[in-house]
Amino acid sequence: MKYQQISNQLFIKNRNKFMAKMKPSSIAVFNSNDIYPISADATLDFEQHRDIFYLSGVDQEESILLLFPDALDKKHREILFVRETNDHIAIWEGPKLTKDKATYVSGIDTIYWLTDFDKIFFDLMTEADTIYFNTNEHYRQAVTTQTREDRFILDCKQKFPAHQVAKSFPIMEEIRGVKEPEEIALMQHACNITEKGFRRLLDFVKPGVWEYEIEAELLHEFVRNRSKGFAYTPIIASGGNAIVLHYIENNLQCKEGDMLLMDVAAEYANYSSDLTRTIPVNGKFTERQKAVYQAVLRVKNEATKMLVPGTIWAEYHKEVGKIMTSELLGLGLLDKADVQNEDKDWPAYKKYFMHGTSHHIGLNTHDYGALKTPMKANMVFTVEPGIYIPKENMGIRLEDDVVIQEKGEPFNLMANIPIEIEEIEELMQV
Ligand code: GLY
Ligand code: MN
Ligand code: MN
Repeated sequence: MKYQQISNQLFIKNRNKFMAKMKPSSIAVFNSNDIYPISADATLDFEQHRDIFYLSGVDQEESILLLFPDALDKKHREILFVRETNDHIAIWEGPKLTKDKATYVSGIDTIYWLTDFDKIFFDLMTEADTIYFNTNEHYRQAVTTQTREDRFILDCKQKFPAHQVAKSFPIMEEIRGVKEPEEIALMQHACNITEKGFRRLLDFVKPGVWEYEIEAELLHEFVRNRSKGFAYTPIIASGGNAIVLHYIENNLQCKEGDMLLMDVAAEYANYSSDLTRTIPVNGKFTERQKAVYQAVLRVKNEATKMLVPGTIWAEYHKEVGKIMTSELLGLGLLDKADVQNEDKDWPAYKKYFMHGTSHHIGLNTHDYGALKTPMKANMVFTVEPGIYIPKENMGIRLEDDVVIQEKGEPFNLMANIPIEIEEIEELMQV
């Protein structure tokens, strides 16, 4: 791992929160992700399943976490199974977790090799009534592959048909949605790396650079700061490319007079940051670009103020829609008739601002977190309004990550990343 070791106190706290919500006489199991194949002997880089990471800190394939708070033998209340390491593996793949290292990383005393899982699991299941399965119920999930977790669930249902089943997801969604101070510090670190990347770009962008050259600059800056790289596929979209919300080709040349939308951010220790800035390729905004930019910035600032304990996500989006409508009227993009005749299910502003304003962020960029109940302190949300105008070949989005506070306005983890027109122009002129 490139990141500095995280204190296992965080993972101990996280497990305690999960176990406090389990039913009596129940076991919960969390699997690592597979390493996904490309073809021949090639694989994608390993990405740990965020739930086993959140609960144990283990960032290695072929690991299983088992939680059984009512286990008769105390040492079986928390167990980590890891892939047996040996000298051969050490030579070819480097140091994998030993039992001692697994304890150091996770704070779990009982470590077994994965090969012992079936036998120990069978024995513990004879003591338990309920098994918690970790299905993926994220509101945006669209997974078509069978995960290691899926295979475990199918196998377990077949072997233990008389056990009751329960869902881990609602518990994970609730506890992962409210961040611990250590997690907020890690996210701040990710945002600080993102800031370094963005400042580097202000010096680099000029007419004639290619979008992929910008991507390369960012990757360089992120990795040299101990990040694995981008927290999500970067969007580096000049001119009309910014109209395509998920433009990821990043293969065109930045032209004089165009705006450049960059939705680009670093991960750190598996925590995401999520930034969008839109800058003029030549370092100087036109009057029209300024007007649209300031409108987006005002919407962002007003939306941010609403991220306080008690706010309901859906209601918040309706309020942001009203603010955006008023800005679009001011810009002459909508007129009063457009608004009077609008379809309430697809309000007029959606023509220019068609995506959501905020999502939870954390170990996933679109993180777990309660959305239908009131917001709570220490939830972390993005704020990301945009205005996209195809006939003007322009898309402007601005995005920061903010932490809800017990009292007052949220804390902006990206407050140091330049956003005001004057500052951006000044930094680009140097
Ligand atoms: N970068 C992904 C998003 O803004 O949601
Ligand atoms: Mn976002
Ligand atoms: Mn983004």
